[in-house]
Amino acid sequence: MAATVDTPFDWRDIRGDGVRLKAGGRSYIDCASGTFNLSLGYSATEVKQALHEQIERCCHLSSELTREKSLRVFESLREHLPSHIDGYWFRDIVGSTAIECAVRIAQKATGKTEIISLFGSHHGQSIAATGISGNAFRQASFRLPVIASLKVPAPDCNNCFYDKTPDSCGMFCATRLDDFLEYASSGQVAAVVIEPILGNGGNIVPPPDYFGRLREFCDRHGILVIADEVQTGFGRTGEFFASNGLARELRPDVIVFAKGAGGIGIPVAGVLMRRELDVLEPWEHSSTAGANPLALVALQATIDYINKYDVLANVRALGPVLRTELDRLGHEFPSMENVRGEGLMLGFDLPDSASVAAFIEVAKGHGLLLRGSRYGFGRTVKVRPPLVVNAAEVADIVRGLRSALTELQEAGVG
Ligand SMILES: Cc1ncc(COP(=O)(O)O)c(C=O)c1O
Repeated sequence: MAATVDTPFDWRDIRGDGVRLKAGGRSYIDCASGTFNLSLGYSATEVKQALHEQIERCCHLSSELTREKSLRVFESLREHLPSHIDGYWFRDIVGSTAIECAVRIAQKATGKTEIISLFGSHHGQSIAATGISGNAFRQASFRLPVIASLKVPAPDCNNCFYDKTPDSCGMFCATRLDDFLEYASSGQVAAVVIEPILGNGGNIVPPPDYFGRLREFCDRHGILVIADEVQTGFGRTGEFFASNGLARELRPDVIVFAKGAGGIGIPVAGVLMRRELDVLEPWEHSSTAGANPLALVALQATIDYINKYDVLANVRALGPVLRTELDRLGHEFPSMENVRGEGLMLGFDLPDSASVAAFIEVAKGHGLLLRGSRYGFGRTVKVRPPLVVNAAEVADIVRGLRSALTELQEAGVG
């Protein structure tokens, strides 16, 4: 192992302030919201304050002792949930194990085993979650999967697996689901898991009718629907959960959240479900840090902050502004294609992954932190600032993107 690590900054000198990261005497707007988990940016005061107070009381309690707090948190989430979601399981602090919790629920409730997911999906880094995700590069070095897993083509109209166009395809990708079930599955499918917007896969937004078609398919075959809202949850698309917004027709049986739920980056995850799916025993899915007080306090404070400052209204107001500006840039720069997204979960394509890498590096010089899709293997640039971004910061983002695109164009890249 190397004795030194080559990083541009001493991490102790890095400061987060609102939507900005300050390091090496420079200030960057973090358009990746950290690891896409800083829904409230780096420094939401009330969240920090609530955490300080809890640290003074204690940092850990067993989940037995925080049961009451979990219930209170769930009660404050209720107004933001589809009305049929009336159960919860808060024993996770990362999305990967929360996804495994949802899989366990589906398997135990249905008595079946297999999970259907989409090409390009990402449901986590644990062995089971990687096995049900649709990317070979994450699996190649391991003996996966441990769960029977069937992947089907994603409803990605910019890159249709079937080479069709949305105006005339009749939603062919949804139509073919029955064939996959009949000819490619084990016949023992417990659940379909779907991200309402495929985040890591490239900010892929399914056409609105896809969700209803998928629900209808699942209803016909007694298959549960798990909405992986690890990225889309907590206001990212302009609704608290996409399952109440763009993916309303999905009517998921189970919703998984993580990332943005911790507001300023405190790890916390959870599973929400129809109450009759509350089938697990505590010993069947829990962990040492599950439902710890810091996680629950961060979760509660994040919900309160979103309500108090009407963060959803901010996303609904500024998301379209940023989107319009990205569309405009798309017309100015031929290398920029397929602007897409919802709320503040936006993205666009460049010609290939090498131009994405070059663009991200150049954008840093113009004060923006960005991330590409598929861990650098994809050709999408994701533009997802914290949900508390303001109009002036949106203008700064657009300015930075235009300067970076200009620089790249002049250098003949892309
Ligand atoms: C959609 C989605 N699901 C699940 C996960 C796994 O979450 P975690 O990294 O917290 O384990 C991720 C992480 O990137 C994700 O994007």
